Parts: sequence; structure tokens; C-alpha cells
Amino acid sequence: MKRAEGKLLHRPLCLGNWKMNKSPQEARAFCQELKSLLEEAQTSHAASAAIGASDKTAKSSATQPLAQMVLLPPALTLWAVAESLQGTEIAYGGQNCHFEISGAFTGENSPKVLQEVGAQYCLVGHSERRKLFHETNDLCAQKLKALIELGLTPILCVGESLEERQSGRTEALVLEQLREGLKLAKGDGRFKTPGTQGSATPQGQAVPGGGFPLIVAYEPVWAIGTGQVATVEQVGEVHQLLRQELDQLLGSELSQNIPLVYGGSVKPENGAELLAIPAVDGFLIGGASLDAKSFFALAQLGF
Ligand code: PGA
Repeated sequence: MKRAEGKLLHRPLCLGNWKMNKSPQEARAFCQELKSLLEEAQTSHAASAAIGASDKTAKSSATQPLAQMVLLPPALTLWAVAESLQGTEIAYGGQNCHFEISGAFTGENSPKVLQEVGAQYCLVGHSERRKLFHETNDLCAQKLKALIELGLTPILCVGESLEERQSGRTEALVLEQLREGLKLAKGDGRFKTPGTQGSATPQGQAVPGGGFPLIVAYEPVWAIGTGQVATVEQVGEVHQLLRQELDQLLGSELSQNIPLVYGGSVKPENGAELLAIPAVDGFLIGGASLDAKSFFALAQLGF
């Protein structure tokens, strides 16, 4: 895959983390609206491509890339999303899963069920899971390994709290979360090399199966749901650091198939600035993903 200005994809990733929001009924309405927005945009792109066939400016805006959209609904809403998105390019995944396929784990969800419902992705170690449900790096490593073995793409979340940032521990903390999260999956061939599991196409499109061996999401805890976005410099620094570490841990061939996305108060108003940062391959979006129009507006931002 070719990187442009430190980026991995030609087509950004827009991952919508609904958290504990939306019933199956609400999810169906959301998907309907999202599909209509997508159809409208495709029709108007096709029309401007036809009009501007001899006009280079119109033609290039007609081929403006649209992000690969991925919805991450709550577990009980996943099936409704799967049904509603049939026949579209919009993918979906889980917010969490157990590391075992089945067994006596009351209240947990199996990664195998995610797979059967057609999920291609699953979050691992979101800061809310780490903080509110005491998920450790060890647990994240087990979940990540289980997902990779099933051919699902884990989205490993890393990020520092405000106190950790203020005490100068951001770098050490995110690197530790990354190394620990990957410790069971790296080094022994568990990660499939690009081409065997599938990889991003030259256009940066995810292919079935998630298409990526892994996605890493940098989400500073203090920026989640607070409206306080990390600065361009802060995001750029951490993403660069994570990319270097992935190159070192997994080798650059594998690393260059692993998108790095930013999350924390991403909205249509600040999306373009964030996406312009080198080494930002897309977003993990919470609040703004609950509204189909704002989620779609973010998906329409091109590099
Ligand atoms: P936010 O959430 O966009 O509402 O800040 C992001 C996340 O928690 O993934």
C-alpha cells in the first residue's frame, strides 16, 4: 500500500462508536438515512462527472473519495444493523467481545457470534472499558489474539488520561498499551501478511474480512466526549510515535497495512483539520456518529 504524506490510505476510515446508544429500531432508521445520504451523494457525483467530463476541476470533485464507513453498535442492536446494511459497502463491528469462543461467561459476547453476524471489526480496550470495567492490557491482548485468529480486525484503543498527559507520561503510556496489547499476536505469524488475509486495495478500500490485520485508535481520554480536541501537534506526535513502534514491533511490511485513526470529540467542524495531519488515516467517532448527517459529513472529507 502506498503512503501519501505519512498516510496509509487514499480513502479514510470513519468508525462510528455508538456506545450504549440506539435500539434496533433507532438503528434501522439511522441506516436508512445513511443509505439515502450515500445514494444522493453518489447520484450527484455521477451527474457532475458527466457534466464535467471535459472539465478537469468538476471531474476531480466527482471522484472525491468517500471514507470507508464502519458502524459499531451495541451488541443487541448489531443484528438490526447487519440486516439494514445488506448490499451496501458500509461495514459494521462490535464494541467488545470475550476472548473465548464459548463457555461459562455469563453476560459476555463471543467473537464467533460477531463473525457469524457478519461483523468485520471489534473495538478492544476502549478507555471506557479500561476505566469502568477494569480491562487490563493483558485482557486486551487476549481479545486481540482471539479476534485475529477468527479473521476479524481488532481496533485497539490507546490513550492517556489528563493526569498522565500533565505528568509527561503520554508517550510511555500509549507505547505500553500498544506493546502489551500486541504481545500475544505478534512475532509468531498470527498476523497474516497482506494478501493472505486481505489488505487495503490501492484505493485504500477495505476488502471483505475487515481488510486490515489491525487498526490502532489513538484516543486521549480527556478528549472523549468533552468537546476538547487534542491539538494538531499532539495528535501528530503520538501518531508518529505509534507508527514507528508498529514498524519496529511488526516490521514495516505489516505495519503499513495498519491504519492509525484518531478519536476524541471529532465533529464535522474539526474533521478536515484532523484529517490533514500526516499519519492520521481516519477517525473513531463517538457522539457525532449518532447523527447520520454528521457521520456522513465526516465520511465525505477527503485527504
Ligand atoms: P467522542 O467519543 O467522539 O464522543 O469524543 C469517541 C470515542 O469514545 O470513541
